[in-house]
Amino acid sequence: MRVIILMVISYLLGSIPNALWIGKVFCGIDVREHGSKNTGSTNAARVLGPKWGLLTLVLDILKGFVPTLIAVSLKMDFFQNLTNIKNIDFVLVGICAILGHIFSIFLKFKGGKAVATTLGVFVILVPKAILFSAIIFFIVFAIFRYVSLSSICAAILLPIFIFLMYRDILIYTFLGILIAILIILKHRSNIERLKNGTESKFSLKNKKGK
Ligand code: G3P
Repeated sequence: MRVIILMVISYLLGSIPNALWIGKVFCGIDVREHGSKNTGSTNAARVLGPKWGLLTLVLDILKGFVPTLIAVSLKMDFFQNLTNIKNIDFVLVGICAILGHIFSIFLKFKGGKAVATTLGVFVILVPKAILFSAIIFFIVFAIFRYVSLSSICAAILLPIFIFLMYRDILIYTFLGILIAILIILKHRSNIERLKNGTESKFSLKNKKGK
């Protein structure tokens, strides 16, 4: 039962649009009107500046990290006992945070692209796999300087790393596949821009000069 309460809290936490609220409160800027128009840390860095982007990144990671850590620390097993699926409670709590970020209750069920919040969840559940995924992210980023392309490549390889490293907990691989699909779908506009050469490379100079 506790797990259901934590799932609701996790969704509400995940729903907090950090980039939007930080932009409005501290800079008087609506990030949905600038840059990629995404309510994520990359666009916060692009539009508001690096320090606000970094703050958004940390808070977006924590939205996934904290509820998942609580579920694991309290060894929640309500759904595990019902279904016999190992660690399903941890996965459900993590999914709620990620879905909150993508379909935020505060943004009429719109939201960000889920990369940072996914990192927060997966670093608890599958730390070795996320390390390899992060390495892929940084290699692609070092070569091309596109955060979106780096995110997509890391997301595609993540379920493969999870399967190779955690094949005894198959639900983690399913979670990885689900999240990879969601992340790719959320990057459709980036994929279009990458194809026609209009995607912006990451730069710490922001457009609003703040
Ligand atoms: O995490 C989102 C990133 O992959 C792309 O962000 O603002 O360039 O669409 P953005």
